Amino acid sequence: MTFPNKRPRRLRKNSKIRSLVASNSLRVEGLVQPIFIREGINEPQKIESMPGIFAYPLEDLCSAVEMCLKKGIGTVALFATPEKKDSFGSEATNEEGILNKSVKLVKDKFQEDIVVLADLCLDEFTSHGHCGITRDGSSKIDNDLTLVRYAETAKCLGRSGADFVAPSGMMDGQVGVVRAALDEEGLIDCGIFAYSVKFASSLYGPFREAVSVDLKGGNRSTYQQDFRRSWHESLDEVYEDVAQGADIVMVKPASTNLDLVARIREKVNVPLACYQVSGEYSMIVAASEKGWIDREGVIIESVHSIFRAGADIVVTYFASDIAEGLNG
Ligand code: PBG
Repeated sequence: MTFPNKRPRRLRKNSKIRSLVASNSLRVEGLVQPIFIREGINEPQKIESMPGIFAYPLEDLCSAVEMCLKKGIGTVALFATPEKKDSFGSEATNEEGILNKSVKLVKDKFQEDIVVLADLCLDEFTSHGHCGITRDGSSKIDNDLTLVRYAETAKCLGRSGADFVAPSGMMDGQVGVVRAALDEEGLIDCGIFAYSVKFASSLYGPFREAVSVDLKGGNRSTYQQDFRRSWHESLDEVYEDVAQGADIVMVKPASTNLDLVARIREKVNVPLACYQVSGEYSMIVAASEKGWIDREGVIIESVHSIFRAGADIVVTYFASDIAEGLNG
């Protein structure tokens, strides 16, 4: 019998040694908490498919943000749903619309204590639920018409005080158009947090309940990526966004794309974010509610693995839970 001379278990002998050699840690400062705001409600509303997550009326937004701040979260991503939706997504460019008002409210109150990412997309605002708009009578999302809407939306959000706009619609050329629009307004300090790699995923289901999107007329497969493609396409999307002026690039969803996070981290020099999306949240919560998995354990393990893959920033609905756990 030969006994091993390599013994990795030495480094696992006790918790102090394990911590000594743990080369990754969860950075609370690198976590982003998404927050939903809904027009036309009077009190926070439960999102059934995301237990523990609420849609807030504007009146309660600041206390929701304050709770995050108290726990040590420094960045929020705001998603807002208007009462009135139309085929053009008009409320996206209403300076007094729910998203612009939300951004303004939070930035006026908390100023530099909080970093605000504003979702720059139309799906929360369109009656058909698509991320872009169509030419009359067609059900085809028109890339370049949509870019014109994104440019206007970016200017509004920038003027409202967003630190970053987050174009998430996967239209070709969106980052360049948004950069030019912001610069034209003199909003040179408003950054672009780009959803660069974003798949047409079945993991966004609960989010659509959260923002009341009823996707009429199919799916998003003509603009979001096909997960069967090779990683080359994703790298291309990232290179293109960086060239067009993205300050931060993002991969989404997380758990199904950690290979891409690792590859991209090696190839680009801008900060890399990764979004643990609504379906990933709900799977963990549902299984733990059944007593099948340990909630805290799976949360920490899943988010750790995203950082280990190479993400500098993780957007997750668990952000404030994690911060509370680590700080308390
Ligand atoms: C589009 C957008 C979506 C998500 C973030 N931005 C929905 C979609 O593309 O269908 C999904 C996030 C999640 O599932 O948590 N505005």
